[in-house]
Amino acid sequence: MVRVPIPGRVNTTTAASLTPLQRLYGIVTPNGLVFERHHAGVPDIPPEEHRLLVHGLAARALSFTVNDLMRFPSVSRIHFLECSGNSAGEWKAKGSNVQVTHGLLSCCEWTGVQLALVLQEAGIDPRAKWLLAEGADAAAMTRSIPMDKALDDALLVYAQNGEMLRPEQGYPLRLLLPGFEGNMSVKWLRRLKLGDAPFMTREETSKYTDLMPDGSARQFTFVMEAKSVIVRPSGGQALPRPGFVEIYGYAWSGRGRIRAVDVSVDGGQSWSEARLEEPVLPKCLTAFRLPWQWDGSPAVLQSRAVDDSGYVQPPRPVLLAARGVESYYHYNAIQSWRIGSDGRVENVHA
Ligand code: CO
Repeated sequence: MVRVPIPGRVNTTTAASLTPLQRLYGIVTPNGLVFERHHAGVPDIPPEEHRLLVHGLAARALSFTVNDLMRFPSVSRIHFLECSGNSAGEWKAKGSNVQVTHGLLSCCEWTGVQLALVLQEAGIDPRAKWLLAEGADAAAMTRSIPMDKALDDALLVYAQNGEMLRPEQGYPLRLLLPGFEGNMSVKWLRRLKLGDAPFMTREETSKYTDLMPDGSARQFTFVMEAKSVIVRPSGGQALPRPGFVEIYGYAWSGRGRIRAVDVSVDGGQSWSEARLEEPVLPKCLTAFRLPWQWDGSPAVLQSRAVDDSGYVQPPRPVLLAARGVESYYHYNAIQSWRIGSDGRVENVHA
């Protein structure tokens, strides 16, 4: 079981690799299988030399070592991390398996310091409404973050799933913005600047905007909306024979908790409520299970997530009607897996 690179991104500095969701059990992704996305390779940072600078609209500029930050009170929380480009291939094409279609998704126990504590240490100027986060990678990845989010549940993370961060996940320090598109959880974090307006970086003007059918672009689409996918059975797998099948999958929402997951075996004509497995945590993968007797005839499996804001994951035609096919980011339509009479499972657009 391995991460696989995105086709066409092998051995490039702008690499990405995909989590094998079809082979996972439970909600925590082992560190060696957590998806990767880098904009200019993985920097090799001596932790004792790394600094986090906090400056701008603050009472005082502060510089922290990782050890300084580890002396703050810490928390451990389980949250999903999803690239806003997850499932982007599905706008116009069909990935062969769930690692390809949904593998820019992982879920981990993150340990670190609440960002609010560190900002309060610097003294937040009342005019400060935005925060620039900058990475120490060769791309100097930069994003603007609303101060509300920074003070809500943002974390300065140094450990992941019980060990220090791995280099590809931002060692020695990264930002984590639960429920927001993954690129904003800036890895190798070296600078936070408080400002009164967004900083309009490359990654929020040229990139990470969503082109709409009328030619306009959505900007600052931060929250990853409710989504779900059946990982077993899923594309590329085969049911050996008719009989009992446990349908297993994951649901998640950047807005909060998953309230329900409905599963259809007839392409959305009828739905059954799946059993959600504890724990059901906010902004976290929630596993669901549904027992099913496959009678050997063709079937189309779908799952539909509902979160505690009342948001319902849209069918593909509804998403396309609203967004067109040029959005690239934030594809969260219901996924359909067709099971043939031979048991083979394939990705279909329904
Ligand atoms: Co976005």
